[in-house]
Amino acid sequence: MKILGLETSCDETAAAVVEDGRKVLSNVVASQIDIHAQYGGVVPEVAARSHIEVVLPVINQALEQANCSWDDIDGIAVTHGPGLLGSLLIGTLTARTLALAHNKPLYAVNHVVAHTFANFLIEPQIDFKFPLLSLSASGKHSDLLLFSSPLEYKLLGQTRDDAAGEAFDKVARMLGLPYPGGPKIGQLAPSGNEQAFQLPTANLKDSYDFSFSGLKTAVLRALQSAVGGDFRTPSGELPNRLSDNQKADMAASFQRTVCETLTAGLLKAYYEFKPATVVIAGGVSANGRLREEVNRQLPVKMAYAPIAYCTDNGAMVASIGYYLALEHQTTDPRTLRTDPSLAV
Ligand code: KG4
Ligand code: ZN
Repeated sequence: MKILGLETSCDETAAAVVEDGRKVLSNVVASQIDIHAQYGGVVPEVAARSHIEVVLPVINQALEQANCSWDDIDGIAVTHGPGLLGSLLIGTLTARTLALAHNKPLYAVNHVVAHTFANFLIEPQIDFKFPLLSLSASGKHSDLLLFSSPLEYKLLGQTRDDAAGEAFDKVARMLGLPYPGGPKIGQLAPSGNEQAFQLPTANLKDSYDFSFSGLKTAVLRALQSAVGGDFRTPSGELPNRLSDNQKADMAASFQRTVCETLTAGLLKAYYEFKPATVVIAGGVSANGRLREEVNRQLPVKMAYAPIAYCTDNGAMVASIGYYLALEHQTTDPRTLRTDPSLAV
C-alpha cells in the first residue's frame, strides 16, 4: 500500500510516498530556514505564504521521484495538528482537495505522534516489538510516549514549559548562532568544555515531565556574569561580548545538560515500564551528543533514524498513515478540522 504523506505544520513543506509504512519511495522537503533565519525564528504569516507557493510542486516532485501516478496512490495522510494554524491550513486544505479530486481515502495525523514513526523508516528494517517507549523532542514538544501498538499510546510525560528544541534555539540566539539553533549548537559544542558551566536541572519528582525554561534562564545569567554584567545586561549584547571559547564552552555545557536531562527521563521510564523497544524522535533526536548519552546509559541496543527523518518530513506522516489505513481510520475530506493545539 502506497501512502502520500503531507506535512506543513511549521516551516517545512514536505511530501513523501511510503510503501507499507516502512519503505520510503520518495521524501521531498522544501525548507524555509533561509527565509526565517533573517528574523531569528519562524514568522507564521510568512511560513503560510511560503507553503502555498511550494505545496503542489513538492507533492508533484514526491510522486515523480517515487515513480508514481495518482492511480498508484492508495491514500493521503496529512498533519492536522499541532502546529501553526496558517501553515496547517495549507496542508489540510490541499490534502482535502486532492482526496476529493482523486477519490482517495484521507488520514488525519497528529504531528507529535508521527515523529516516532521516523524510526519505522530505518533501513534495514527493524522488527519493532511492543510496548515501545519513545522520547520525542522537537521545537514544540518534549514527550515520553509508551506505545502498546502503532496506534495505541499513552503520554507518560511532557514539557511543562519550553520544549527541548526551543531551549536549543533560544540559547543559540544568546550565543549569536543563527536559527535553527539546535544543529548549530551541536556543531560548536565539540570545541568547548562541557563541564565549564554547571547548570541546574529541574527536579520534577514522581513525574515523567520535563522543564527547560529554568535552564534557559540559568544560561542567560551565567552568560551575563561571564561578560562581567548582571541580570540587566541585554541578551542581545551577549554575542559581541563573549569570547569564542566562552561560546563554545556554553554550547557544550548546555547541550550536555539537556542531553543528560532527556536521557534521565527516558531511563526512568525504561526501568518503570520495561518496554521491548526504545526509540528517540523529533528534531532534537538528530543530536549526536544525545545519541551518545542514550547509548551510554540505556542497557539496550538502539537504532537511530537518519537525520532527514528526525526533523519535519512527510515520510513519517505517510508511515503512520499506513497504520491508520490498516485500521480503516479514515477522515471525511469535507469536514477534516485543523487543530493548532491538538493534544497527543
Ligand atoms: O521536529 P522538528 O523539525 O520541528 C518541530 O516539530 O518543532 O524540530 C526542530 C527542532 C528545532 O528546535 C531545532 O533546533 C532542533 O529540533 N534540532 C536540533 C538538532 N537538529 C534540529 N537540536 C539539537 N541538535 C540537533 N542536531
Ligand atoms: Zn516536528
